[in-house]
Amino acid sequence: MQILLQPPRDERHAWLAALAGALPDAAISLWPDAPATPDYALVWKPPADLFARARPAKAIFNLGAGVEVLLAIPALPDGVPVIRLEDAGMAAQMGEYVTLAVLRAYRELDAYAAQQRAGRWQPRPPIAKPAFGVGILGFGVLGRAVADALAPFGFPLRAWSLSRQRSPGVESFVGRAELGSFLAATQALVCLLPSTRETRGLLDRAAFAALPRGAHVVNVARGDIVVDEDLIAALDCGHLAGATLDVFRTEPLPSGHPFWHHPQVTLTPHASAVTLIEDAVLQVAGKIRRLERGEPVTGIVDRARGY
Ligand SMILES: NC(=O)c1ccc[n+]([C@@H]2O[C@H](COP(=O)([O-])OP(=O)(O)OC[C@H]3O[C@@H](n4cnc5c(N)ncnc54)[C@H](OP(=O)(O)O)[C@@H]3O)[C@@H](O)[C@H]2O)c1
Repeated sequence: MQILLQPPRDERHAWLAALAGALPDAAISLWPDAPATPDYALVWKPPADLFARARPAKAIFNLGAGVEVLLAIPALPDGVPVIRLEDAGMAAQMGEYVTLAVLRAYRELDAYAAQQRAGRWQPRPPIAKPAFGVGILGFGVLGRAVADALAPFGFPLRAWSLSRQRSPGVESFVGRAELGSFLAATQALVCLLPSTRETRGLLDRAAFAALPRGAHVVNVARGDIVVDEDLIAALDCGHLAGATLDVFRTEPLPSGHPFWHHPQVTLTPHASAVTLIEDAVLQVAGKIRRLERGEPVTGIVDRARGY
């Protein structure tokens, strides 16, 4: 079995060692070495010429959960399944990160930090939990993990997706028709949507206006789902209380971007849930073994939907 491996550049050797350990009988070529027709390609944000030089025969594995970069490559071969990572150690990280952001908003730690800077001792009245709805945009592998992580805290949980979800303790909203009612009672909005034609620019002025006054936005999905100027305007006019942002339209975030120094923005450098090499390789190797046995695998991307 021939495998082409094109992982993030600075992690090449760790990926190679892990994959060789998991699939000892495979012949692995590390990009830019490339057999013309490998059985499988394992790629992360591949260069445009990769699929001109190598035409994987059986499957292309995306070494992350989001596939928008891969699907945008014109030379991506048709007729070969594209398979993405599912959880692979990211779900627990995402649960931690979002829980931290939601609790920080609920317990108003930013307001207390401002009071501390001003030397002011002033307890704030507690926020009634039933009034603090947490809305999760995207209720897939990671959205569900976030709902599970938040469940013990007792917030009303709501999820927005394309198909109706049946998950105990989570109210399901579907499609554009129900977006308004989803947003209207969402005090902490968590974005875990894929970046697709449908979702890019979704969080704009109208969406922020539909949130209740004082809401907090957490974007851990992709930067292009948010319209930056609209988010800044909604924060500046006091409609939104804060934003926790892990992902940006341009990464690294350019030094002059207003998010860097905005007093109501907390940002991290796309670090909310990183791909864990060992977990990812175990998952991919397991799926390769299943495919070799002619068995079905999960995580196949629907190219028409874009995720
Ligand atoms: N910041 C980070 O470090 C990091 C790490 C990993 C992943 N991510 C991002 O997180 C995203 C989600 O990952 P995942 O594994 O949870 O994906 P997933 O399992 O594919 O879930 C996607 C969810 O979004 C919903 N959805 C898609 N398009 C929609 C639309 N137009 N309207 C309403 N709902 C829509 C889907 O609805 P259905 O359930 O109806 O299909 C599904 O619930 C990834 O695409 C990636 O961009 C970020």
